[in-house]
Amino acid sequence: MNTTSYLQRRGQLETYFDRTAADAWARLTSTAKVSRIRATVRLGRDRMRQTLLDALPRDLAGQRLLDAGCGTGALSAEAVRRGATVLAIDLSPNLIRLAEERLPKTHGAGRVTFRVGDMLDPALGSFDHVVAMDSLIHYRAGDMVDAIEALAARATATLQVTFAPKTPLLAAMHNVGRLFPRGDRAPAIEPVAESALRRLIAARSGLSAWRIDGSERIKSGFYTSQTLRLVRR
Ligand SMILES: C[S@@+](CC[C@H](N)C(=O)[O-])C[C@H]1O[C@@H](n2cnc3c(N)ncnc32)[C@H](O)[C@@H]1O
Repeated sequence: MNTTSYLQRRGQLETYFDRTAADAWARLTSTAKVSRIRATVRLGRDRMRQTLLDALPRDLAGQRLLDAGCGTGALSAEAVRRGATVLAIDLSPNLIRLAEERLPKTHGAGRVTFRVGDMLDPALGSFDHVVAMDSLIHYRAGDMVDAIEALAARATATLQVTFAPKTPLLAAMHNVGRLFPRGDRAPAIEPVAESALRRLIAARSGLSAWRIDGSERIKSGFYTSQTLRLVRR
């Protein structure tokens, strides 16, 4: 994989999350006061994280989990509290540093390793569970499904990703976003219809050992994202 469009977007995301939006992202993922609009996003993200965590076994002792695109590490912190051995990886050195700082000193039975790099690096090894929360939503659908296939090759039990569902309202908001000056913008989110995503996944031979076990949409103000939970057949 690693198509030109994937590499290009990955570079933009690294710049955006590590520099352009690092402070805003640090604040959004903290308990500091934020605008009302951002508070809805924070709430939606909290619900999304909880939804993903709820789909994992309660007891994660001895299980390996990849937090793919971990950002400031909130999901990793909870997984490790439940006993998992976590590899938390992100493109952004600044966010990884913050994730390390924020990890509670006493965090339960598990352990976590933080790493700066690409979540698709095959050298990361294999995992019982892979979770990619909102870290594939900026890639084109084809690249996203390539990434799902690559992550699935290294997961033995479950793979959870989120995607930005394509709905008429979101398409309108997305187009309004395009009116803002280029320098102020985040790399575009690439909405995809759930039916299209399911079709693309069904067509991949590398995903034939997997079935889609469920999907939940979380909507809170300006935040809309949807899970896709895959389990081995
Ligand atoms: C919207 S943030 C979500 C962060 C975290 N999962 C959360 O929900 O708090 C997306 C993150 O994915 C990371 N990311 C995007 N593409 C990546 C890649 N190919 N490898 C590793 N991290 C990636 C970005 O650097 C960014 O921190």
